[in-house]
Amino acid sequence: MAKLDIITAPDPHLKVRSTPVEKVDDEVRRLMDDLLETMYAADNGVGLAAPQVRVPKRVLVIDLSRGEEVTDPMCMANPEVIWSSEEVVSSEEGCLSVPEHYAEVVRPASVRVRYLDRDNEIRELDAEKFLAICIQHEIDHLDGVLFIDHLTAIKRNMILRKLSKMRKYTTVKPEAAAPVL
Ligand code: NI
Repeated sequence: MAKLDIITAPDPHLKVRSTPVEKVDDEVRRLMDDLLETMYAADNGVGLAAPQVRVPKRVLVIDLSRGEEVTDPMCMANPEVIWSSEEVVSSEEGCLSVPEHYAEVVRPASVRVRYLDRDNEIRELDAEKFLAICIQHEIDHLDGVLFIDHLTAIKRNMILRKLSKMRKYTTVKPEAAAPVL
């Protein structure tokens, strides 16, 4: 496994629509392992998508139990939301590619997602609450969308300006305060 560098906005690689994998083979499994290692190494990271490490493939990992003794990582290739609830929820989101910024985002409260697992088997999963939010946030990454793209242009541009400044002037990142996706 290898720990990779996580890129941050406004890096153009985060705006690319990633391509599906043909199948989950050893190469894709290695990418999943690298994503997990990179996510665990990041402060409070509970989800990471391949484009965040400059790999434009539809692959993501999630582990909401990180930090606990037993971890339960979820690895998905080519994930697709095949149903989403009419009920929506607003919750505070953060992102490893948008360091130190959090904002309320409105999304469907529950989703059903279809994906390929580590063994290249097709799976379907019903998710609600934070897991549903996390899955939608990570799938957004595969489409070149960040959580700040769900905000008003004024809020988004304010965050992007601050991030550009931070890149120029700071090298040390303070610890994140909440789980980041
Ligand atoms: Ni994110």
